[in-house]
Amino acid sequence: MFLLSYSKPIGVFDSGLGGISVLRALRVLMPSENFVYFADRRNAPYGSRPDIEIIHLTRNGIEYLRRLGCKAAVIACNTATSVAAEILRKEYSSFAIIGLEPAIKPAINKYPDGNVLVLATPVTLNHKKFINLLSSLDGHNVVALAAPKLVTYVEGDTANSSGCLKYLSSLFAEYNCVRFDACVLGCTHFPFAKHTISCALGYSPEFFDGAQGAAHHLRDVLASENMLNKDNKNGYIFWNELYSNGLNRKLLYDKYN
Ligand code: DGL
Repeated sequence: MFLLSYSKPIGVFDSGLGGISVLRALRVLMPSENFVYFADRRNAPYGSRPDIEIIHLTRNGIEYLRRLGCKAAVIACNTATSVAAEILRKEYSSFAIIGLEPAIKPAINKYPDGNVLVLATPVTLNHKKFINLLSSLDGHNVVALAAPKLVTYVEGDTANSSGCLKYLSSLFAEYNCVRFDACVLGCTHFPFAKHTISCALGYSPEFFDGAQGAAHHLRDVLASENMLNKDNKNGYIFWNELYSNGLNRKLLYDKYN
């Protein structure tokens, strides 16, 4: 079937299920767009891997989405964005690649004198991009904590378990006397653990993540190239999950529901 270029799908890539938090924001903003989601669950988690492996795996994911005819791709993973987005943008110069950034600035803007907690993977927090961002925020109260095991809890659908609560409680123990006004979820898996994060803290901070920012950015890019889908129907999601024993693919919503 011949597809007009604007009705081609948008690719969404993550190491696993975390990118669903981004897919949700994309669908709210652009309901008529079609999406192809690629979850590299065979190689998840990415968050403690060497850069060279993350670049290789992310390149494979982007290449897969491009070959399926996507008109643009979202790296719905803060870790992969930190390490691979710039490199891949150079390699695929005619293919729009949107990344995810920890939403620290919106949190600081809302709470300039407050306490801001950032949770992300070790790779994201140790990357020079994040370190530069933190040093530009000198004078603000920002605590950044790596929570790599939280990815595994979300992947295993156990983010609401007592094990996950225990893990987060011990992670936060050192900050028992601090009340965080904002919590920046710098990993796309973490929005699925908001409830347990609040339980471990003993209160609910305001949560910030980069999904809406990425969705707006992508919409602007597509609009500027006249590539937004002009269809009035709800788009489909073509789900692709890579496991050690192969690829699982299914169409989640068809065009006419
Ligand atoms: N969802 C990812 C992120 O936003 C990565 C999680 C992982 O694979 O470690 O950082």
